[in-house]
Order: sequence, then structure tokens, then C-alpha cells
Amino acid sequence: MITNTLSESFIDDLIAICGSDHVFTHEEQLLAAASDETEDLVYMPAVVVVPANTAEVSAVLKYCNERGMPVTTRGGGTGLSGAALPVKGGVVLWMKRFNQILEIDEANLQARVQPGVITQVFQEAVIERGLFYPPDPSSRGTCFIGGNLAHNSGGPRAVKYGVTRDYVLDLEVVLANGEVMRTGARVLKNSTGYNLTQLFVGSEGTLGVITEVVFKLIPFPPLNKVMLAPFASAEQACAAVSAIFRAGVIPSALEFMERDAIDWTLRFRDDIVLEIAEDEKAHLLIEVDGFDEQRIMQELERIVPVLEEFGCLNIHFAETEAQKAALWKLRRSVAEAVKSNSTYKEEDTVVPRASLPELLRGVKEIGERYGFRSVCYGHAGDGNLHVNIIRGDLSEAEWNGPVIEGIREIFKLVVSLGGALSGEHGIGLVQQPYMAIQFPAFQLELMRNIKAVFDPKGILNPGKITG
Ligand code: LAC
Ligand code: ZN
Repeated sequence: MITNTLSESFIDDLIAICGSDHVFTHEEQLLAAASDETEDLVYMPAVVVVPANTAEVSAVLKYCNERGMPVTTRGGGTGLSGAALPVKGGVVLWMKRFNQILEIDEANLQARVQPGVITQVFQEAVIERGLFYPPDPSSRGTCFIGGNLAHNSGGPRAVKYGVTRDYVLDLEVVLANGEVMRTGARVLKNSTGYNLTQLFVGSEGTLGVITEVVFKLIPFPPLNKVMLAPFASAEQACAAVSAIFRAGVIPSALEFMERDAIDWTLRFRDDIVLEIAEDEKAHLLIEVDGFDEQRIMQELERIVPVLEEFGCLNIHFAETEAQKAALWKLRRSVAEAVKSNSTYKEEDTVVPRASLPELLRGVKEIGERYGFRSVCYGHAGDGNLHVNIIRGDLSEAEWNGPVIEGIREIFKLVVSLGGALSGEHGIGLVQQPYMAIQFPAFQLELMRNIKAVFDPKGILNPGKITG
């Protein structure tokens, strides 16, 4: 059983482990760990602890486990499913001092990294050696590798290069009772027992605390072309997506933005200048990359006729690196732009990519029926559509009544199309009530039982994934 009652010596005992400079109890310090990027949710922890190394994490967990004290591990705080929210109070274990790239092993194309390293910092460090770590969530400038591991994050380049889990070879993990283990090995092939490495990826801090990761890397493809393809209808844009793959090309990004997503973002980022014609209702942002200019041009030549076949209007090719950067900034700023307008609920729907037009049509139809507006964008090549449901002027009763019913309808549609509740943001707190749409009760029970094996007292990030 977990408890929230702090014994008198609790804070002093944590200070004895981590030092007085790394244990925080003042209100403003607690507030900094009380929210992430999810809606407008705030849950105060009792204390924030910032450990320096694996031994300290182990000691903190052992101590909390003996007392049944909840521990919520936190990274960059950019999550959209509320996985980092300390909903049962207790301790937030903030991993920001685990910020070292321990090793870049060029001979084996691997890297050993601590979980508090910012994703983009790691990416840039390996690019300097001609190597590539592709997963690139829009928050990569501030999110932590640990949060990416916890959520199995993706991002635009996942369509060609895969998601976080595809690069993880080995983890160092601290269990609830303080025991430390390595889950895998520094090898590319491994058929040695149950795959605990992949069980931890995407487990959102509910099974243990990741203190080190070994990634595999690939050679960095230095060349790319980027284009923005406008369509007169959002469904047409989505329909073109699967045809691009059928034409024999796997782009390094194939992103969808409906008109509102672009308009809201252009208003939010006035440093991006882009002319959007009246009849352009949706856009595909397409990138093709590689090592050979000629091959990239051949791939473009295959894509363009497909876009035209689906009624694409005037394609805008980025001519310079600055133009490419502007298009990517536009795309990566959508979530922030939407948030600057209104609180929103983020549904991270994912379906087989050929079902994308049907999903989009269904989302809009459900919105009309249940009285909400949505701004949709996302990783179309992966069938991963971010549905941002806008609070706007909705009353408390509407926001927590019909909107929730509508979201249930969206998820039922997703599952009926062969999809899943979340493509890359995780289940966390806010999607947890919908898990029963995808899984029967016995399967949710199986997941709870797995958690109980690792964390019998349920101290690790309670209230997440399966509740
Ligand atoms: C994106 C984040 C929100 O795709 O996943 O921008
Ligand atoms: Zn995304």
C-alpha cells in the first residue's frame, strides 16, 4: 500500500542520501515539478529529489519502498499524457543531473548515455562524428532521453528510421526495492531470455528508473530535400500518403497539417513567413534524405506525380537551408501554437496509414456530433494523427461531459480501424481511462500483474497506464 504521510525524519533522511542542495520542499520548487505539457493539470509532490548517480537513485527507491512512498520520475517535463504528474503526491525524482553522454563508441556505432541528456544535444553530438540518432520529437530541444525511453517517443523521422525503442540495446535500471540491473547487452542481436529492455521502453516510470542506456546508431545521411505540398482538401492530402509509399519511396518525413494548424502556428511564430493561398486546406511536409543527390532526385521524381494525381496544388520546394529550417520550425511549433490559443486535449491516435482519410473524416464528424472543434496534424506517414481538441469557450460541463464521450468515440473508431490509443505520447494519466476500449479486462489485469512483479508495493508512478 502506498502512503502520503511523511515521517518526521523523511526529508532529513532524503538529504542524508542526496545532500541538502538536492532536496526541495519550497512551494515554488514543488510547483516546477507539478505539471508537464498536459492540458492545464497540476499535482503537487511533497518533495523533489534530484539524485546525482545510480547509487543515490537506488538508496532513495529502497528508502521510499520500505515506507510505501510514491515516487514519480521526471525528465524534461514536455510530456503530453501526464505521465510525469505526481498524482499521488510523494517524491518527484528529477533526473536532470544525469546529463552526461558517457561514451560514443564509433567502432561499434553505439553510444552510452544518461537519461537526463537533452535529446537534441545527444543528436548533435553524434552528428559531429558522422553518426545519427534519428528519434526527434518536436520537443527535442528540451525533452530528456529518459522521457523518450519512458514513452517510446517517435517524431517525424520515425517513418523511415523507427522510434526510440528501435535504437535501445541495453538499459541500466533501478527497481523499486533499490536493486540495480542491466536488461540487455551491447550487441545488435540478442535472443537471451525475455526482452526486459523492450518492456522498460514505454513503461513510463511504472516498472523502474532508467539510469543509463546504450543506443545503437547509424551513419548520418547528410543530404535532403524538403517540400510543402498543399491540397484543396484534408482528406485528399491524407489519401496521397499511402500512395507515396506504393510508388516505392520511403520519405524521411511525411507530415500532415490541416489549415488551422498552419494558420495558428503562423500567427504564433511571426518570424516564419509563408504565403498560404485561400484554397489550400491542408499540407503535407515531405522530406527525402540520403547520401546521394541523384537518388534523392529520383525519389522526388516518383513522389511528385503521386501528389499531382491526388490533386496537389502548387508544390513549394525549400531552396535553401534557411527555408528548410523555417518549414520544420513551422511544423515543430504546432503543439505550442495550439496551446498558446487554448487549453486542449491531445489524442495521439494511430491507425494503419491507408486508413488515415477515414480517421480524419471520423474525427471531424464526431466533433460535430459532440460539439467540439479539433486541430489535426501529425506524422501521416506513420498513420499517427495528433487530434488537438480545443477547449475554447466550452463550459466545464461540456469539457468534462460530451467532449469525453466524443473522445471515446474517436478511440473506438481508431481501434475498429486496427489502430491504437497512442502512437508516441504514451498513456500516462489522461489516456488511462480509455485503455479498456483497446484491451479486455483480463489483459489489463495481466499488465497490472507485470507491474506488481517489479513494484509489489505500487510506489512507482502510481495511477498511470493501467491505473
Ligand atoms: C508533434 C508532437 C506533439 O508531433 O508529438 O509535434
Ligand atoms: Zn508527434
